[in-house]
Amino acid sequence: MNSKISAIGVYTPENVIPNTWFENIINTNDEWIQSRTGIKERRVASKYEYTSELAVKAVQNLLKENHGTSLEGIDFIIVATTTADQIMPNTASQVQHKLNITNAGCIDVMAACAGFVYAMILAKGLIAAKTHKKILVIGAETLSKFTDYTDRSSCILFGDGAGVVLIEPSSDAKIFNGITGTDGSHGKDLYLSHGNSIINNEEIIANGKIHQNGKVVFKWAVQNMVFKVKELLERNNLKLGDLDWLILHSANMRIIEAVAAALDYPLSKMLTSIEQYGNTSAASIPIAWDLGIKAGKVKKGNKLLLLGFGGGLTFAGIIIEV
Ligand code: UT7
Repeated sequence: MNSKISAIGVYTPENVIPNTWFENIINTNDEWIQSRTGIKERRVASKYEYTSELAVKAVQNLLKENHGTSLEGIDFIIVATTTADQIMPNTASQVQHKLNITNAGCIDVMAACAGFVYAMILAKGLIAAKTHKKILVIGAETLSKFTDYTDRSSCILFGDGAGVVLIEPSSDAKIFNGITGTDGSHGKDLYLSHGNSIINNEEIIANGKIHQNGKVVFKWAVQNMVFKVKELLERNNLKLGDLDWLILHSANMRIIEAVAAALDYPLSKMLTSIEQYGNTSAASIPIAWDLGIKAGKVKKGNKLLLLGFGGGLTFAGIIIEV
């Protein structure tokens, strides 16, 4: 059975944090942040706004903006997140409860910034297996609650937000083949640990905050994502010119520019959410996609390539027709 995306919704918190806010707490400035990352501002959830709350609001926005769409018959909810409300119960089950979706399987997917695309690939598989028919795929994060605001190399990057798509069976294939991959040897280069542990044979004394070796992750992303775009196109017998939009995870504008340049692909045909929302991890791709729709750029019948990458280090890519 083929599948399609029948609706999309996004929610970002109201509280806007401009770059200048950081000038009062760490040794940085607006010019450095904009030129090194492309970020101008980001959104931060309020004290009692946890990841499931952002996810629920994204679903509510999906319903508001897609008349005729209902939650009736939803039989599976996947929440991709690195910032779950807690480890157990999973975030998806809180979404199920808050939205009163009566009969849905619920899982969280932990694949950091690649999580949303991983979740789409899983949803496509469930529909292909004919075990499920109406699936909510959500990418939601409250990274601000896990950010070390004394670490100037990471705290300026992160923002909070959520995006959701509804995936259903389709007579034509609108979600094409995906690719996934991981290099766990880089685990220590981007981690968030709630309990003491060992990563790559090194002891981690947990502080519940995100730790990142930005330089290593940057280099890995630029070196690998260029080839992964090509691999994904080949897998689907498509060419770069067949794409209307390319959406890379919005980690850093310089990564997006470097990948576009290496592919010789116009930057004007890439959608990002980095400038207004910062790095929202699993939410960055649906937010960029929704911004593209609202700007009148993404049109019916367009082909989009989505490619997420992050902590693991891991990546997942998929091509869709909207
Ligand atoms: O979403 C998951 C995947 N994550 C990523 O893909 C993140 C990838 N990495 C990055 O986006 C970048 O590496 C960062 C934005 C994190 C850092 O940018 P960079 O160009 O790699 O900077 P750097 O780490 O090489 O640091 C250059 C200088 C250093 O100073 P010195 O040692 O040259 O004196 C840093 O201490 O910039 C300094 N620096 C800052 N200066 C002002 C680091 N952070 C800041 C800051 N403000 N916020």
